[in-house]
Amino acid sequence: MTENYNQTVPIAILGSGIGSNAGALVRFSDLEACCYKVVALISDNPDSGIIELASTALIPSMIIDRSQNALSISTQLTSILDAHQVQVLVLAGYNRLIPARVLEHMGGRVLNIHPSLLPKFGGKGMYGLHVHEAVLAAGATETGITVHKVSAHYDQGTILAQSQIPLEPNETALTLQTRVKSAEHSLYPAVVNAFCKSLLTST
Ligand code: GRF
Repeated sequence: MTENYNQTVPIAILGSGIGSNAGALVRFSDLEACCYKVVALISDNPDSGIIELASTALIPSMIIDRSQNALSISTQLTSILDAHQVQVLVLAGYNRLIPARVLEHMGGRVLNIHPSLLPKFGGKGMYGLHVHEAVLAAGATETGITVHKVSAHYDQGTILAQSQIPLEPNETALTLQTRVKSAEHSLYPAVVNAFCKSLLTST
């Protein structure tokens, strides 16, 4: 990559839900050592915490119309990404496939976090509490987190980092979700930061 980002890589965060990971990513961006700047917060859900976060953090927000087909969603996303010169698209609780056109447009610089040790408990329908319920139903003794590059298939891109979390006695899907999310809030900003740092140092 030859662009000069002036020491920070412009990133956008896309999600549909609570937005706790988006919050952690935005908080991390205040640190001096941070190599990225959050230039856009995007959601397909007007009620997402991501939109509220945008107004408190004074970051531009956009809502994409999820009722449209993949072609229209690609056009909506690529025009936002281009308008803000986004170099890395970071998914945080976005539960739909990213259209191939957007992946191509971003040159593969699209990241996601998944609340299990992929390839275990990944794929279509594996999101939110469903993941943790499946972990408990399988009698697993540990779960974890995976940060990966996004591909055209659910939860299948190159794995960038994983972190293990042992299950505790009397664990429920809700207690697991709380503990996994809290670990996500440390791991995701660190991995996004390392990814952006590698872009700054590559030529
Ligand atoms: C997280 O558990 C993440 O791993 C998954 O979706 C959830 C989003 O949570 N992809 P939040 O909206 O960041 O609170």
